[in-house]
Amino acid sequence: MEKAELIWMNGAFVAWDEANVHVLSHGLHYGSGVFEGIRCYDTESRGPAIFRHLEHLDRLNKSAELYYLDLPFSVEELRQATKELIRRNGFRSCYIRPLAFRGAGEMGLYAPSAPVEVILAVWPWGAYLGDEGKREGIRAKVASVRRISSDSLIPHAKASGQYLNSILAKTETANASYDEAILLDQRGMVCEGSGENIFLVRDGQIVTPGHNSSILDGITRKSVIQIARDLGYSVVERDVARAELYLAEEVFLTGTAAELVPVREIDHQELGPPGEITRVIQAKFEDALHGRAEEYLEWLDPVGEPSGDAPPPPARENVDAEEIGEPASGKVGS
Ligand SMILES: Cc1ncc(COP(=O)(O)O)c(C=O)c1O
Repeated sequence: MEKAELIWMNGAFVAWDEANVHVLSHGLHYGSGVFEGIRCYDTESRGPAIFRHLEHLDRLNKSAELYYLDLPFSVEELRQATKELIRRNGFRSCYIRPLAFRGAGEMGLYAPSAPVEVILAVWPWGAYLGDEGKREGIRAKVASVRRISSDSLIPHAKASGQYLNSILAKTETANASYDEAILLDQRGMVCEGSGENIFLVRDGQIVTPGHNSSILDGITRKSVIQIARDLGYSVVERDVARAELYLAEEVFLTGTAAELVPVREIDHQELGPPGEITRVIQAKFEDALHGRAEEYLEWLDPVGEPSGDAPPPPARENVDAEEIGEPASGKVGS
């Protein structure tokens, strides 16, 4: 992992190596945290710009609400702090990881008085499933563990503890030398990848599992559905049987970290190289990410140019001098 100079932590810019938490943080013990994965691209028309920034921060806010975490910063404060962090670190493109979690102060499952802490981290991170994967397609395997369901958790929330499910699936398939896991929902219908939504092409129609399949409501998924429809393709959200994965003309995955990745093999069934519909949509999506598609420029939140003279990371004692933005509640972790 490539380090950046600064991390934003509870309203202050601190040195990467100084951004530490207490070992009794509630989130560390019970997974009581919510997070986002966002990307900033060096765009041709807008300079460094964050793709669908507000949608990601709104989802963070919603995930926090669903798990009773009172965010001590507003969406707008987090948005501005993220841009400032990217500028100060001197990045033109990077991955962005906002995380809110219950900190130390009270133990036990019901711990409303433990403070909610918020961090924003940015670092350079290439395509999650590799550039070759984006070009040639990846090999996926259906995992034996099922995706979490709304019977017991909240699939629509991007919550830290929920990712133990994704880790199990990913580890199982990595150990079997596949690139990515595909999870079925509790009914045995196709749900999504361990960190991506899934699309199939069948008889020229684009198909993707809907919300009754316990999917994460992916922001890339939404963008790709819009792009595909704007290009004139028919897109339907419906239940997808496992066998349809093997019968599909094309399959691809979408997610912020992975972007749009063709799938060329599933469970030892060969689908072949990336198909034409995947290629056309992937190209348009790449244009949207990099500010080359006029019609999707509104999806980009410009960061401004890197300051170039980023101040040296402050020592931990100095962080007060670096504070920006008061917590919305006036107190971190009310
Ligand atoms: C489980 C899961 N599904 C789908 C996605 C894709 O979501 P998005 O396109 O918003 O990144 C992600 C990534 O955040 C994920 O972790």
